[in-house]
Amino acid sequence: MSMQGKTVVITGATSGIGEVAAIRLAEQGARIVFTARDKARAEGTMTALRKANAKADHAVHMADLSRLSEMKRVGAELAREPVIDVLVNNAGALFNRRQETEDGLEMTFALNHMAYFVVTNLLRDKLKPGARIVTVASNAHRGARLDFDDLQNRRNYVGFPVYSKSKLCNILFNRELARRLSGSGVTANALHPGFVATRFGDDSGGIMRTVLKVAKPIGAISPEEGAQTILYLASSPQVAGVSGEYFYECKPTTPTAEARNDEDAKRLWELSEELAG
Ligand SMILES: NC(=O)c1ccc[n+]([C@@H]2O[C@H](COP(=O)([O-])OP(=O)(O)OC[C@H]3O[C@@H](n4cnc5c(N)ncnc54)[C@H](OP(=O)(O)O)[C@@H]3O)[C@@H](O)[C@H]2O)c1
Repeated sequence: MSMQGKTVVITGATSGIGEVAAIRLAEQGARIVFTARDKARAEGTMTALRKANAKADHAVHMADLSRLSEMKRVGAELAREPVIDVLVNNAGALFNRRQETEDGLEMTFALNHMAYFVVTNLLRDKLKPGARIVTVASNAHRGARLDFDDLQNRRNYVGFPVYSKSKLCNILFNRELARRLSGSGVTANALHPGFVATRFGDDSGGIMRTVLKVAKPIGAISPEEGAQTILYLASSPQVAGVSGEYFYECKPTTPTAEARNDEDAKRLWELSEELAG
């Protein structure tokens, strides 16, 4: 679809693939409304957006998306937009050490899953027929299994497996979201961006920070390349009407059996509703 005059909401557009996607969509004519948690980085993105599309009145909303109260506040702020054409759920991170938010949620689950869930639900009414929801998941979901008795990862916390579970949550969330949206004209698709040399991992601490620092220069693609599937799902006419899929390199691909489990998707949705209050 033409992005001219469209409003795109992106979480975590101050770095990496979210920032590239925001700038490229602005260049295509979109007005970008993004979330940030760091003032200086927010200003950096805003400057780039104004350069990319000077006519649009881009907006930024500050929030720490690992906190439930902040997810709700910023979701309510974003919901003041009269219409949202594309929502990109993107902000995410890996935490080497287990941390709990003030809400008693484990940090990875809170930021990577609950923020997508809460923000999307608060914006649901602003997404009209033709609108798209794009959820950044990961092939890191491969090998992960959800343990519904331990969604807060209290047992045997290890950073990467917990991150993998949160990315499995993203695909299950997308699956149930698409089922709930079916017939509404609003689509929902998830994606794997590839292994991308972004700031991802820089704040993780411990061994994962070191592993990613070494691996990125060897095996990772650029943020520009990593953003391509986000851009495709947000704007390509080829995926108008396509929903509930998982994409990699702009092509639908099959996630693991665990990520295709409709009962788990429904259960995760219901538990997330309870946790979100
Ligand atoms: N890089 C990869 O290889 C890779 C592979 C598969 C999937 N992904 C997924 O891609 C998405 C984007 O990651 P990236 O690689 O672009 O990483 P990145 O460069 O670290 O960017 C992450 C974005 O999320 C924001 N963010 C992090 N914690 C936040 C919090 N507590 N509250 C609000 N915003 C927060 C960051 O804000 P700040 O600028 O303030 O840090 C930044 O804008 C994530 O969902 C990640 O899981 C990445």
